[in-house]
Amino acid sequence: MSPKLSLPLAPADPVAALAACHERIRQYTLGLERLCGLPSLKNPQVPLAAAQAFHYFSEGLPLHAKDEDLSLGPRLLKVAPQAASLLEDLAADHVQIDAALEELLPLLLQLSEGRTVEEEALRHACTRLSTVLIPHIEREEDELFPLCGLLGPAEREAFRDELVARRNS
Ligand SMILES: [Fe+2]
Ligand SMILES: [Fe+2]
Repeated sequence: MSPKLSLPLAPADPVAALAACHERIRQYTLGLERLCGLPSLKNPQVPLAAAQAFHYFSEGLPLHAKDEDLSLGPRLLKVAPQAASLLEDLAADHVQIDAALEELLPLLLQLSEGRTVEEEALRHACTRLSTVLIPHIEREEDELFPLCGLLGPAEREAFRDELVARRNS
């Protein structure tokens, strides 16, 4: 397992683990914006920065979306059926995020290999991702995470076990 994908959590608290993932999302999105804001992509720091962003957005972020769609959503629906439309909206955001990543990841891979990309294409892909991703995690923090308090101890434990297993598989 890559240390970058391990969960920085107190194991009993899967919601804290999701919140920690959000901090990572913010860090990597900021890093991406910094990369896209460089005056020149010929900067020698670009390949490593692109490789790190590629690794996170191709592996870490999809695991987090699965945590929410597969492990949290179904459990919340049982205790908070009123969350159905919120969960539908958030799952639809995940589809949009995946589509933005399909545009961005090939560009990051090329940069990580020292190849050039169109700067305008990179900026467009970067903006497309952050425009959906940042409001999405803010909405989760405001509306989704508070509902997690409705989960009982056994559900939280099973949820936590799935988060850990997903990263160990
Ligand atoms: Fe999400
Ligand atoms: Fe999230």
